Amino acid sequence: MTQIFADTADINIIKKLLEDGVKLEGVTTNPSLFKKVYEGKKFSEEELDIEYIKLLQEIREVLPNGSISGEIYVDMNTDEETILKSARKMASQVKDIHIKIPITENGLKAAGKYVAEGGKVNMTLCFDQNQAAAVANIVKDNAFISPFIGRLFDKGLNGFDLIANISKMYKENNTKVKVLAASVRSLEQFKWCLDNNIDIVTAPPEVLLDWNKNGFANLVVDKGVYQKIEYKLDEGCPINHPMTEAGINKFVEDRKQLIAV
Ligand code: E4P
Repeated sequence: MTQIFADTADINIIKKLLEDGVKLEGVTTNPSLFKKVYEGKKFSEEELDIEYIKLLQEIREVLPNGSISGEIYVDMNTDEETILKSARKMASQVKDIHIKIPITENGLKAAGKYVAEGGKVNMTLCFDQNQAAAVANIVKDNAFISPFIGRLFDKGLNGFDLIANISKMYKENNTKVKVLAASVRSLEQFKWCLDNNIDIVTAPPEVLLDWNKNGFANLVVDKGVYQKIEYKLDEGCPINHPMTEAGINKFVEDRKQLIAV
């Protein structure tokens, strides 16, 4: 059965979802969601990092056994060692956290090492199957991969194709990395993930509340016809993707907006 996570950095909303009986098994956050909560405020870089950790710790309190994903700072130039250090630091401050690391070459190398030493990762900003194959090659376990289906739909592409193909590829190769559908835009997209038994779906609170209130058991979502993409995990898997780069730059930009100059 698909696990349901909330895609929000708002602690009050997380509490409300739980009070309303949403069967939340986790929360995903990112710099843009964090910015949304702290809109208009300004911090030093140090204060900002402290605030983010405080928020993740508060989420841990209300969700003691749930999965929490927190994103470390990574830009297009961040090196492997820095990523590894940031991951270790965040994990030392928030119990059992999945560290969100964007799929870049350095991100992937750092994630491989971090998982080998016992950490958990959420490989984020996935936009194609090559990236998912590369993740499975390097990060064997204790990992989520987050295909951003909504951002593909925003561009007129079919996000379901990507997630269906990654899930199939992972299943056929007995990959332990779990597929986490991210960037969900609508109830239909959410329902599709449940109907297709995707490992995990993270959705905005509005979608979760709507779902919880109305059930929508009979909502019919077109399952579509998926283009099958063949991949062999042991072949070279290019990992660069323009939408990953754009996503990283946007997270960096949103973080900057909260920093006092
Ligand atoms: C996932 O972990 C991300 O936080 C998220 O789903 C981003 O989605 P967006 O496209 O709405 O920014």
